[in-house]
Amino acid sequence: MDFKRSDFPEGFTFGAATSAYQIEGHATGGAGSTHWDTFAATPGNVVRQENGDLACDHYNRYAEDFDLMQAAGFDAYRFSTSWARVMPDGRTPNPEGLDFYDRLVDAMLERGLAPYATLYHWELPSPLADEGGWRSPDMHKWFGDYTACIMGRIGDRMAAVAPINEPWCVGWLSHFLGHHAPGLRDIRATARAMHHVLKAHGTAIQTMRGLGLKNLGGVFNFEWAEPVDDSDAARRAADLYDGYYNRFFLDGIYKGRYPDAVMEGFAPHLPDGWQDDFDLIGQPLDWVGLNYYTRKIIAPNTDAWPSHEEAPGPLPKTQMGWEIYPDGLYKFLTRTAREYTGDTPLFVTENGLANADVIVDGVVDDAERTAFVSAHFDAVKRAIDAGAPVSGYFLWSLLDNYEWALGYEKRFGLIHVDFDTLKRTPKASYHALKSALAR
Ligand code: FCB
Repeated sequence: MDFKRSDFPEGFTFGAATSAYQIEGHATGGAGSTHWDTFAATPGNVVRQENGDLACDHYNRYAEDFDLMQAAGFDAYRFSTSWARVMPDGRTPNPEGLDFYDRLVDAMLERGLAPYATLYHWELPSPLADEGGWRSPDMHKWFGDYTACIMGRIGDRMAAVAPINEPWCVGWLSHFLGHHAPGLRDIRATARAMHHVLKAHGTAIQTMRGLGLKNLGGVFNFEWAEPVDDSDAARRAADLYDGYYNRFFLDGIYKGRYPDAVMEGFAPHLPDGWQDDFDLIGQPLDWVGLNYYTRKIIAPNTDAWPSHEEAPGPLPKTQMGWEIYPDGLYKFLTRTAREYTGDTPLFVTENGLANADVIVDGVVDDAERTAFVSAHFDAVKRAIDAGAPVSGYFLWSLLDNYEWALGYEKRFGLIHVDFDTLKRTPKASYHALKSALAR
């Protein structure tokens, strides 16, 4: 890596991130069925119909994984709790699931890893999906009850908590594009899901404040929207993409409104009384997390709203086909502070790349990952120099894992996982990061 720990401000947090369904092994420990299980079981949705039944078997192997984190010199671990493990039917607590997260958090603390929890990283209990899931006006109440249950058990040991990972994915990607569970392509469902996600976020923050928890934030994902050319039509198209992808949720929380470009499509579909929900939605936050991977080149087209399409970009790409564009991270960190969050601490809560990593003679030479991470750390440093209050960076991901609709093929880990034997092999990037953190 081209950086060292001492290049960053005192107290800057270096961490790695994962999520429950992607690593734990969902078939163990009394967890209930989720909409990801049924989405994955439906032919055509997920590569090879793979699911999270076993994943990395982190449920049984977390001690080994945390030992590797500690040895690398990490300060913090961003993980998620699975609603369906904590409450298999979405409502009734599962003592086995609560005990698991209790053990997990203690195992982090024993190794000096600060727990950064996310309450929802996409696996909705099936019974709640049956009742409409994110389309349901009751979602925020169900989510508040789950929040109270899990944080009533582990909240005393949290360094930080965010309710929902990447609202855009929960809303647009899953209800408009249909790429993730529940796989809908419906604008009314999308508008409602995106609004209900924010109500659930606000309810969870309120609930946790009521429990006396501190350091509560939100985690959002961002893609820089670059107009394909200088035309007004291209600018408008990029503005719309920026609106529903990057601005919708921050506008809701920080400005009590939604972007005009998005309202053109959403207005008839939002639930009655949506304008009255912004007090709940806009609960003050102690930090904001940005997940950042790439940019998109946006071109106009003539179809109905939302009228745009993605054009191919010229930059080098990762195994996901995503352009490598570190400057986007700099732009989002500085823009978020300038236009929304001011002095509130920012974290990069996810950043990383998928790479076609292979083990040769026991070694994974992922020079691409080391270069990618170095370039993005440089962007973070530039953002800090420009005045953005960035307090930490979490690499996605600690382990190769279940990459949702793309199954086990896309390897994002610092640590290689052999999905037949479950053997862990730290990659060259792990060793490079370890020496950067020691310096
Ligand atoms: C993010 C998700 C994470 C992982 C990475 C590659 O959108 O939060 O679970 O899939 O992308």
